[in-house]
Order: sequence, then structure tokens, then C-alpha cells
Amino acid sequence: MEEIKQLNDDEVGLEPPCKKPNLDQTEEEEVLPTIDADGKPILFNGVEITKLTKTQMKKYRKMLKWEASKKEKRVKERLKMKNKKVEAKKNNIDLGPSRKQLKKATMANSSCKIGIAIDLSFDDLMIPKDLGKVIKQILRVYTENRRSSAPMQLHLTSFTGKSREEMSKHNGYEHWDMNFHEESYSSLFPKEKLVYLTSESDNIINELEEDKIYIIGGLVDHNSHKGICFNKAVKEGISHGQLPIGEYFTLKTRKVFTINQVFEILLRVSEGKTYKEAFESTLPKRNNMQPTNSDANVDQNDPNSIEKIEESECANNDSS
Ligand SMILES: C[S@@+](CC[C@H](N)C(=O)[O-])C[C@H]1O[C@@H](n2cnc3c(N)ncnc32)[C@H](O)[C@@H]1O
Repeated sequence: MEEIKQLNDDEVGLEPPCKKPNLDQTEEEEVLPTIDADGKPILFNGVEITKLTKTQMKKYRKMLKWEASKKEKRVKERLKMKNKKVEAKKNNIDLGPSRKQLKKATMANSSCKIGIAIDLSFDDLMIPKDLGKVIKQILRVYTENRRSSAPMQLHLTSFTGKSREEMSKHNGYEHWDMNFHEESYSSLFPKEKLVYLTSESDNIINELEEDKIYIIGGLVDHNSHKGICFNKAVKEGISHGQLPIGEYFTLKTRKVFTINQVFEILLRVSEGKTYKEAFESTLPKRNNMQPTNSDANVDQNDPNSIEKIEESECANNDSS
């Protein structure tokens, strides 16, 4: 009898039986260690690697990938920074203060004694969203001041109630290099030292004085409370003044800036920049500011005006 030869599947043209795909470990995926250097099982979210479900394993691999790319990014950034420093040294370019120097650049050590008080007495005039924007703008103010090699003397006054509550979302803010006061500026500083900043003032502040405290209204109101800070200053018998933007640029409409813009302009000027340079570096280009002596045609109907900064800047702050 003819012997019946046992044929393999592939010899009779059959596909090998379908292998169940391993979702946890595709062919390119490396085998992951399950124990650490001490022989202890590696855990992910408290679960041993060998006991992870498919979904957990996917998440674990994703997390490892993200961590690896983070490390790679950091190495690249360090290299970039190193090259930048070498280039700067070669070309005699000043890269500004180092991190180490900035740590030492506290308000107490600062050569700049100009005072800035952000007046937070307007909480009840704002909807929660706008109050949130005020605090975000103050965070920008704080960051800019910390980055400066000669920070200004920064105060938050009437810091109570809602603004304090909003600020408390930022863990550890109490330890920031900033002065927090429940009291109003008028009970903290001599009246003759105070200057309320307001775009409605006829006084132009061309120079900053070391012993003055410049007050910025802690308000985001889309100018629904036009003139509120000016009226407050007049009522309280405090000096007031506006930034000299009109001396350098022709704006299409009003010249009301956000809290952080006003602060940044003052900071740059205190650092030795001219007002012109400070306006140019702080205000968004899209404001189409024309130099005062320019013949350029100014379209009064263009909505892209300085008035819009308040909202657009707040939007930027939202995303930061
Ligand atoms: C968004 S504004 C508030 C506008 C508010 N309607 C008012 O009448 O003050 C925030 C603060 O920035 C300061 N500020 C804005 N534009 C200014 C300018 N052109 N000159 C001086 N201070 C200005 C003021 O202290 C102002 O209270």
C-alpha cells in the first residue's frame, strides 16, 4: 500500500494558521525590562509590568516614549544653548543675565528703587473671567520682573477678597519676590510719592523717578469704566500721568494698554531703554503704530487698533 505522506500546510499551499497579533509588542517594539537594577519588579501606576492589561501596556509604552523624547529634546536644547553661548562670545554679543545671576537679582538687591503698585481695588467691577485675566497679567508682570537684572519694587495693594482667591490658584505665590498688601497704596506710602498711571491724564511721564510709586489700575474692563483711575486719582488728590506714546507714535484710536504692557514699558525704561524702544519691544506690531513724524496714511476706521490690545493680549495670556 502506498504510503500516505503527511504534508505540511505550506506544502499543500495553505496559509499558516493566523497568528493572533500581539498588541502589546509589535515586531519593532522592544522587549521591556520587568525588573529594575535591584531585581525589584518595575511598577506602572502601582501595577507590575508583567501584570499590565493591554491598554495599560499601551499607556506605559507611550509614557516611556514620551520620556525618551523629553530627554532627547533636553539634550538638543542644551547643545543649542551651548552653541549660542559660543557664538555670542565669538561675536561679542551680550546674552543677558544667566540663571544664576537672575536668582540673585531680587528686589531687595536691585539697584532700581522705582516702585510699582498694582491697585486691586476693582474686584467688584469685574466678571470672574476678567478678574482671571487681571491675575494672569500680574503673573506676566511678575515673570518679567524676575527676569530683569534690576527688578523694580513691585507691590500688589488692596490684595484681598476675590483677587486673592484667584491668585491662590497659583501654588506658592506667597513666596514670590513681590510685596503683597491688604491695605490700599494710600495707607502704605506717602501721598506725595504716588503717581496714578492713567491714559486720561494730561501729564506726560517722560522720566521715571526713583523715589516714586507708580500705580497701575488692576482692571480689565474693555474700557467699560472709562476714566475710573483718573477720577480716583483726582478724588484722592494724587498725582497722575500717562505714558508718552503720543510723542513717538500716532495711534489709530485710544492708547489704553494692559497692566503687563504698562509694566513692561516701565521696566524697559528703568533698564535704560528709550521710551521709543520700550514701546516698540512691548506693543504688538499689529497695532500699526506710525512714528509721529511719518506721512503714512492712518485709516481711522481700521479695527486693528490699540484698543484691541487689551482683549488680544488677554487672549495671549489665556493660552500661556
Ligand atoms: C486696562 S487699563 C484700565 C482701563 C480703565 N478703563 C481705566 O480707566 O483706567 C489698566 C491700567 O493700565 C494703566 N494704563 C493703561 N494705559 C495707560 C497709558 N496710556 N498711560 C498710563 N497708564 C496706562 C492704567 O493704570 C490703567 O488703569
